[in-house]
Amino acid sequence: MKVLLIGSGGREHALAWKIAQSPLLEEFYAAPGNPGIADHATLVSLDVEDHAAVIAFAREKAIDFIVIGPEAPLVAGLADDLRTVGIATFGPSKAAAQLEGSKGFTKDLCARYDIPTGAYQRFKTAEPAKQYVREQGAPIVIKADGLAAGKGVTVAMTEAEALAAIDECFDGAFGAAGAEVVVEAFLDGEEASFFCLSDGKTALALATAQDHKRVGDGDTGPNTGGMGAYSPAPVMTPAMVERTMKEIIEPTISGMAKDGNPFSGVFFAGLMITAKGPELIEYNVRFGDPECQVLMMRLKSDLLPILYATATGTLDKVEAEWRDDAALTVVLASKGYPGAYDKNTPIDHIPDASAEAKVFHAGTALKDGKLVATGGRVLNVTAFGKNVTEAQARAYALADKVEWQNGFCRRDIGWQAVAREKA
Ligand code: AMP
Ligand code: GLY
Repeated sequence: MKVLLIGSGGREHALAWKIAQSPLLEEFYAAPGNPGIADHATLVSLDVEDHAAVIAFAREKAIDFIVIGPEAPLVAGLADDLRTVGIATFGPSKAAAQLEGSKGFTKDLCARYDIPTGAYQRFKTAEPAKQYVREQGAPIVIKADGLAAGKGVTVAMTEAEALAAIDECFDGAFGAAGAEVVVEAFLDGEEASFFCLSDGKTALALATAQDHKRVGDGDTGPNTGGMGAYSPAPVMTPAMVERTMKEIIEPTISGMAKDGNPFSGVFFAGLMITAKGPELIEYNVRFGDPECQVLMMRLKSDLLPILYATATGTLDKVEAEWRDDAALTVVLASKGYPGAYDKNTPIDHIPDASAEAKVFHAGTALKDGKLVATGGRVLNVTAFGKNVTEAQARAYALADKVEWQNGFCRRDIGWQAVAREKA
């Protein structure tokens, strides 16, 4: 199979590493890719916003299958345009990608199909939103409706904070994403991420993971795209997975199909496990980054036929097998992230991978033959262990061998699971 992978982050490096192991693979390209992905695929400098250029490249190379990693091209309808010209594509249509692109869309779907989620209201102006907050009281959650790079959510512990967040959205802090605001009940519990594939009809549960969104140790400081993750998430017991499939995923798949937007791709469900059971916080329509890195480490099966079955409506014909081991990834980020940071700082050394640990590239580039950091989140040091404690020790041992002056990481990734394992 001739495959093109779209994207350039740590998620795509993990996907590329796994796809490259497939015996079905004949030729492998990545656009734009990164220096880590270059170990597995030929990099192509395509502008992925130019759908005609992607199609022309795919035709020139007789590409059989395109895997789209990030959400932006999905929300922009790249998967629709590729499928229209007959190219098998992993990733949902523009209409189905609204599950991530519009929080209001997802909340309305939940309301229509009785999917458990926090009570909510949608608002297009500030005053009625503020009135609703005053009626409901704090804690309460304020969300910009659209894509805001993970920054459009305020979990307000006081009414004043909630009112300020409403003003911030309508004053344009998140651009067009904040033109509509969702005000949502605060859910109390432990968070987990659940990953599941769908071809529009069938669901294939993948694995669970836990992310660390805050920049600082002890879950302090501002939100980021994710500073580390581990899999499996202990809160997701087999019984909780079964309830999630039945109460959340299956009604979503049938509801989306009924509404004329069948979903094909990966569901990344952000869940809150409350006293009542699993409740949906949000859907993303692509693999999590850095959650994908730990999932790919744990996946025993060949990824390529699973993604291809998802894209071609034959998901009922494949299975996914997982290693029992835990996997954990630590994100090395540029000092200053998620605020301003220096770009093009030199990375002097990345240690070699071993059987238990590997460094994925997330925000790197080659400049004059030298590896430099170009993004906020730059490297993902990922390791296995018989439990999270062992995976954590191995990941930090490898992370400490990275030589990069301008890098930092959290030192406590996996702390909740490690505490459980000690208990
Ligand atoms: P989101 O971008 O929707 O995933 O929200 C970002 C983070 O805000 C989540 O990972 C949660 O930690 C928190 N959050 C979002 N919605 C709620 C809610 N209804 N109750 C409590 N926390 C929430
Ligand atoms: N790590 C969170 C995300 O990918 O959205």
